[in-house]
Amino acid sequence: MNTAPTLPDFSFMMKVGQLRHIQSTRERGAFRNPDHLVWHFLSPSQRWSCLWRGRLLLPRLRADPFYDYVLARTRYYDEVFVDALCAGTQRVINVGCGSDTRAYRYANLLAAQGARVLECDQPGAIEAKQVMARRRLPADRVDYAPIDLNEGRWPQLEASLAAPTGATLVLMEGVSPYVNAGAFADFLRLLASRLAAGSRIAYDYKIRGVSDSFGLEGRTHDPFRLSTCERELADFHRGLGLRLVHSETSAALTARLLQPTASRPVRVFTHDALVQLEVPQQA
Ligand SMILES: C[S@@+](CC[C@H](N)C(=O)[O-])C[C@H]1O[C@@H](n2cnc3c(N)ncnc32)[C@H](O)[C@@H]1O
Repeated sequence: MNTAPTLPDFSFMMKVGQLRHIQSTRERGAFRNPDHLVWHFLSPSQRWSCLWRGRLLLPRLRADPFYDYVLARTRYYDEVFVDALCAGTQRVINVGCGSDTRAYRYANLLAAQGARVLECDQPGAIEAKQVMARRRLPADRVDYAPIDLNEGRWPQLEASLAAPTGATLVLMEGVSPYVNAGAFADFLRLLASRLAAGSRIAYDYKIRGVSDSFGLEGRTHDPFRLSTCERELADFHRGLGLRLVHSETSAALTARLLQPTASRPVRVFTHDALVQLEVPQQA
């Protein structure tokens, strides 16, 4: 029998995917999530749950500040992705991709630019995603690889980084809070040493001291955290071989991208921040 695979709910990946689906079907205008493909990665029961929660519980969903942040974060990473491709990036590596659909929503742009996306996630998740995406979505410019960021060694990714390409974009949306601090820093150091100059890395993190037990699961006993102090961020990333080019808190991002109205207030999520880094030219 040909059973349909489903994505496991590692690290809330399906919670985030379901919120994007509800926002793309139930919200209107400026509050509509652009992710109109995520439903392909939801099981029938998850789609039903979204349908009913979207109809009956929208005020309750909107009352959670994380809900609006998910929309702002989707728009933010969409812009990072599109800007990089338009600037000539030939390769995007989406680490901890979960149910993310950028590789499929922007399939035409990838084809026009001759670019490819490598989607990586934990074993058990990425294989299911590959089967689902190949059956349902335009996936011919997408490759797939398992990765465990807590492992500390990533030979499969290192092998693919050895292939010569120009600048690469690495995205890690909603991933670092679930990974041990030392392993995540080692991963950034590896990227800095293997990617071409001009490559970019965009990721977000939980602000130190705000929700320190968040992300404690499985092998993760010391989840990655940073402050929002610009100088500390610059120093930390410089020490890994990366140049800080952008930082913003989740509160500032939400205020920048979502304008509240009298009938639709915006809740501000204060737990996270986002950074963009560049691999500098070797001195
Ligand atoms: C909150 S989800 C975000 C998924 C996706 N980036 C998005 O925004 O929809 C967190 C993701 O991090 C991945 N993740 C957690 N721990 C990981 C690890 N040790 N190695 C690789 N990926 C991990 C999970 O499998 C999951 O896909």
